[in-house]
Amino acid sequence: MTYKQEVSNYYNARTNYDNDVTVNRAVALFDYATPSPGQWVLDVATGTGNVAIKAAQKVGASGYVIGIDIATELLKLAQQKIRAENLSNVELIEIDVEAYQPESNKFDAIYCSYAIVLFPNIPKILENWYHFLKPGGFIAFTCSSENSYLALSIVEACAKHGITLPNIHKPLGTPERIQHLLTQTKFSQIEIHPRQMGNYLSLEKAQSRWNGQFWLHIDNPLRKLDPQIISLIKVSYDDEIAALETEQGVWHEELIYYVVARKK
Ligand SMILES: C[S@@+](CC[C@H](N)C(=O)[O-])C[C@H]1O[C@@H](n2cnc3c(N)ncnc32)[C@H](O)[C@@H]1O
Repeated sequence: MTYKQEVSNYYNARTNYDNDVTVNRAVALFDYATPSPGQWVLDVATGTGNVAIKAAQKVGASGYVIGIDIATELLKLAQQKIRAENLSNVELIEIDVEAYQPESNKFDAIYCSYAIVLFPNIPKILENWYHFLKPGGFIAFTCSSENSYLALSIVEACAKHGITLPNIHKPLGTPERIQHLLTQTKFSQIEIHPRQMGNYLSLEKAQSRWNGQFWLHIDNPLRKLDPQIISLIKVSYDDEIAALETEQGVWHEELIYYVVARKK
């Protein structure tokens, strides 16, 4: 199975994707950057269309929104929601972000909520977005700190068994790295707004957060590992987590960076 198939299978199975948390965290992007009536918007990895629908309401009948994704089942849900809202200014396209090549200077705004780290070549995607934008247009996306979702404990547990697990959150996992990648791509007026959505979990809950296997990354070495070694890594992960326990429980970080940047 290719990496892209693995990603689309995973999301196709999540037809219960929408809930208050997933919807609110996506539309929170509009707290930092909003399109104006009449504008053209691209929602990359639109999923169930939460950002695309909100954008369509903002740009109105004289504007237009395109949502792209590779998960057929989530796009079907998005289509149902668009129909229920009676919106005629949103179009959904089933396509890989890497294959989508509209003409240059087409969009006023490009959104990408909770998906950018899933793209294998982020610098290339940012470069593409820069070209798709009109001068003065903006990108608005989310990414997570490199220790969100107990990522460093997972990586450390793997390292103890000689396995190098690439941390999916690392490339955009600090404000400095975000800033660096965006300036490299010529974006300006970069804003990084951190939002802490983490909480304390019981030890059992924190330990159950990782099952010893799943990690959506193109170079995930765990896919090919013997299940016996995986179980040993899982034991190390549980030990790592136990060492983090405090009186309040285990801190489960979810530090989300809401990022906005503009094309001059
Ligand atoms: C966590 S969901 C976010 C969905 C939506 N943006 C939201 O916040 O409600 C991640 C989405 O990224 C999509 N995705 C992952 N890789 C993709 C790719 N290469 N091209 C297009 N979509 C992709 C998945 O199919 C999934 O719908």
